[in-house]
Amino acid sequence: MILLDKVSRSFTVGDQQVTALRDIDLNIAAGDYVSIMGPSGSGKSTLLNLIGLLDRPSSGTYKLDGGNVTDLSDEQQAKVRSEKVGFVFQSFHLVPRLTAAMNIELPLILAGITPDRRKARVQQLLEDYGLTDRAGHKPDQLSGGQRQRVAIARATGMHPAVLLADEPTGNLDQATGREVMNLLEQLVAQHVALIVVTHDPVIGSRASRQIHMVDGRIISENKAPADASDSTTDTR
Ligand SMILES: Nc1ncnc2c1ncn2[C@@H]1O[C@H](COP(=O)(O)OP(=O)(O)O)[C@@H](O)[C@H]1O
Ligand SMILES: [Mg+2]
Repeated sequence: MILLDKVSRSFTVGDQQVTALRDIDLNIAAGDYVSIMGPSGSGKSTLLNLIGLLDRPSSGTYKLDGGNVTDLSDEQQAKVRSEKVGFVFQSFHLVPRLTAAMNIELPLILAGITPDRRKARVQQLLEDYGLTDRAGHKPDQLSGGQRQRVAIARATGMHPAVLLADEPTGNLDQATGREVMNLLEQLVAQHVALIVVTHDPVIGSRASRQIHMVDGRIISENKAPADASDSTTDTR
């Protein structure tokens, strides 16, 4: 579903050329659970942003769901992103002035979902993520775990095919981090492709595919042994 072929990404900073990704080949299927680990500056976020259509390769090709999305216009890119991709960030990225319910509703508004369907979907998401009694709270009135649950609800409102999480537990204590990972992992059972960037080897080892990056390259991939109780292993 995600197919990267020799993807590179360079940035020009002043008169310097910084190469963040070098010749990345990557194939990720629906229901894959992938962690990306590597030192700071190794290109993890750049790779996630590329996959999430927040950025474009400098060279190489990117196919998402069979379509070539390498050279889409900003507008086309935003449309595909809205329909297929959900993002969760370390620092939540919620809109501070909006309530939990309104933060969750925002992508549905941008996608042109009708008000009736929107309200129903928001109610369902609030319920699914245990936030019904926090619907009217603004982010600064919520705990870290609750904020990340709002962010996951917001990211999944459009039923994305791909969920991208950049250090999703980085601002949470261990127990809350585990809860957030459990919620993200439930999406894998629904055939969402889940890609998690993490510094935490314990979090990273939960994924069935563990990718290690150094200096803009994928240097290795480990596959976790198949677990008979894991419904995600038979979907490839
Ligand atoms: N927008 C940008 N402009 C210039 N350089 C960037 C930009 N984004 C990332 N880089 C550089 O690309 C490299 C990889 O960055 P990044 O993907 O953020 O790494 P990681 O997430 O693994 O810490 C770093 O050297 C970083 O400074
Ligand atoms: Mg990063």
